[in-house]
Amino acid sequence: MNSNLGKLQAYPFEKLRQLMAGITPKPGVSEIKLHMGEPRHATPEFIKEALVVGLGGLSTYPATPGQPALRQAIADWMKKRYGLDGINPDTEILPVNGSREALFSFTQAIIDPNCGYVPLVVSPNPFYQIYEGGAYLAGADIRFLNSVRENDYAFDYASLSEEEWRRVQLLVVCSPGNPSGKVLNLDDWKALFTLSDKYGFVIASDECYSEIYFDEAQPPLGGLQAAKQLGRNFERLVMLSSLSKRSNVPGMRSGFVAGDAAILKDYLRYRTYHGCAMSPVFQAASIAAWKDEAHVVANREQYRRKFAEAAPLVQSVLDAPLPEAGFYLWAKTPISDTDFARRLAAEHNVHVLPGSFLARQAHDINPGAGYVRIALVATLAECLEAASRIQQFLTRL
Ligand SMILES: Cc1ncc(COP(=O)(O)O)c(C=O)c1O
Repeated sequence: MNSNLGKLQAYPFEKLRQLMAGITPKPGVSEIKLHMGEPRHATPEFIKEALVVGLGGLSTYPATPGQPALRQAIADWMKKRYGLDGINPDTEILPVNGSREALFSFTQAIIDPNCGYVPLVVSPNPFYQIYEGGAYLAGADIRFLNSVRENDYAFDYASLSEEEWRRVQLLVVCSPGNPSGKVLNLDDWKALFTLSDKYGFVIASDECYSEIYFDEAQPPLGGLQAAKQLGRNFERLVMLSSLSKRSNVPGMRSGFVAGDAAILKDYLRYRTYHGCAMSPVFQAASIAAWKDEAHVVANREQYRRKFAEAAPLVQSVLDAPLPEAGFYLWAKTPISDTDFARRLAAEHNVHVLPGSFLARQAHDINPGAGYVRIALVATLAECLEAASRIQQFLTRL
């Protein structure tokens, strides 16, 4: 077996399952699941209809670059959303089966394990676990930039040595961040680009929460958009986007990678051998989804309402500021995050994720410890009920 497999930790939800072992839910108290970042609003009917219309696609093998119509629909969306009017759908966009798959496979394509030293991937901490698994299985090692609220989630670049920076081949950022909701601004991007220019590493910007935000007039800044605003091209830069959260189709597995044409050319070659072309049926539904914005506005409205009504209840008992974007509350816990999650589940049947499961010990701390991630993905009524149980839980604690 590949010895790098041994480096993979249990996934956070497996750790959660172990943490919850032996708990018997209270009879008569409904279970409310807010631990997973799984969007649970209804999939729009027009996307389901496009899927049915697209069923004829089952009789053909899909091409790895996807249909030109899909790449064009994505390019049109990027123009509207980010003002990227010059993006080339044939060289600068690649459809992928969701950003999770792409984060993993992109890392395999970028990392050169035969470079004569141990290459590094740099990740925020806490982080989406695929960054780490992708790094290890590509033969790289990982270094973390802790993101803590006390420092407004700013990266401390000096926490890596000069020798380490020289070995970095890929740096992953997540904006809006999971779990913090932090959005990188133009100055943050300037600093990242300066480092990338100095050390020659590739930046992968994970933007799967980009369409969940509060102010319709102020959508989160994207990585490619930042490059354009700073007068740069997309050299050594890609963004990853997804329909999962934007269009409530996590089961469809549809997203894209866009940016540096030279990198995407090699990544396409990797994908051809990997054999991960998107089903023509999902391509048809994805085209319909990228072309429509009304359902995305309506989706945001649902989250906005949940934050407006449920967050104040949680905030009356927990330090849990509104995020800049995304659908998580990242709440400080008065007891250890694991005890908090276990007791909340045992006593109130409300499930949240301990922050320490999303982070690693780095630079002497686990920056997720003492926090829980509460995903406002359930219905408004369930979120309100969960918030009320969290109030009861903390009042008695
Ligand atoms: C930060 C982050 N990136 C990527 C993903 C993967 O999303 P998908 O594969 O559905 O596009 C998730 C899913 O929850 C996530 O939280």
